[in-house]
Amino acid sequence: MKQLSLGETNWQVSEIAFGAWRMDALSVDKAVKAIETAYDCGINFVDNADMYGKGESEQRFGDALKQSSVKREDLYIQTKAAIVPGKKYDFSREHIMNAIDGSMKRLGVDYLDSFLLHRPDPLMEPEEVADIFDDLQQSGKVRHFGVSNFNPQQFLLVQESLNQKLLVNQVQFSLMHTGMIDHGIHSNMADDRSINHDGELIEFSRRMGVTLQAWSPFQYGMFEGVFIDNPDFPELNAELQKLGEKYGVSKNAIAAAWILRHPAKMQVIIGTMNPKHIIDSCQAADIELTHQEWYDLYFAAGNDLP
Ligand SMILES: NC(=O)c1ccc[n+]([C@@H]2O[C@H](COP(=O)([O-])OP(=O)(O)OC[C@H]3O[C@@H](n4cnc5c(N)ncnc54)[C@H](OP(=O)(O)O)[C@@H]3O)[C@@H](O)[C@H]2O)c1
Repeated sequence: MKQLSLGETNWQVSEIAFGAWRMDALSVDKAVKAIETAYDCGINFVDNADMYGKGESEQRFGDALKQSSVKREDLYIQTKAAIVPGKKYDFSREHIMNAIDGSMKRLGVDYLDSFLLHRPDPLMEPEEVADIFDDLQQSGKVRHFGVSNFNPQQFLLVQESLNQKLLVNQVQFSLMHTGMIDHGIHSNMADDRSINHDGELIEFSRRMGVTLQAWSPFQYGMFEGVFIDNPDFPELNAELQKLGEKYGVSKNAIAAAWILRHPAKMQVIIGTMNPKHIIDSCQAADIELTHQEWYDLYFAAGNDLP
């Protein structure tokens, strides 16, 4: 498994990360199998969040990790907080501190490698966030910090108050969710694809040395379903199949390799709990698509050039 430097630090993390959102649906035995499969493929980075399965995903991960052959210190464990589902986003000291204590308990760990603010809170006070992060780092509870679903101005607003560099911004990106590149390709045109939804997030992150973590690499819409082997996407699947045959890997691998081919050096967070799909997806790190293949997949997903 190829590694990348998280946020341009000396933290070497696997290009493919294991997202544990869907782990609440698994028995502990199946969760052990998923964790061990991911680790055997070379994955050393795990993403979680306090809200996944209302805490059950972290709990299952923690219980399974203890029973597995994988040692806690061999993994980078990341979690996220700040979403109160359906009610608000909350960066207050009380909310974040309680959330982190709850996550560490469920995960069964005495430190988190990385903590992300899950979604931007319009009522955020950057100085308050800075004090919270200082306390979390000094107490040894959290080693590094980042954000998720932030636009560049929101990112800077927080970053400028912090004593730590934000290493990560976790955002949706896949062959079927390409807004971050569409508006650059259609720059200054009058069509809908020229609409800038996120404020040059890719260019900004590259310039700042921030690792973008791509969530939902195999989904279309917002969790509407999987595009792999989905008859609603015949052209895309035909192209995935063709390139899969050329490289001797799965369609999952080609779809993830498309994300990895971007020079922003993103990390891909897969969410499958199926051991075969985990192994298939990890093959992405073994191949490198050509420049034209990257464009051909972009077109097969329904995109064009002006
Ligand atoms: N920051 C955020 O706001 C945010 C939001 C969403 C997610 N995330 C993170 O990103 C991670 C990944 O998200 P995700 O789970 O949506 O990603 P995903 O990997 O795109 O989707 C996983 C789903 O796709 C299915 N799947 C994968 N390959 C398949 C195949 N070949 N055939 C059929 N089904 C297939 C999986 O089912 P099987 O298990 O059966 O393979 C699973 O239901 C999450 O775990 C979480 O850590 C972050």
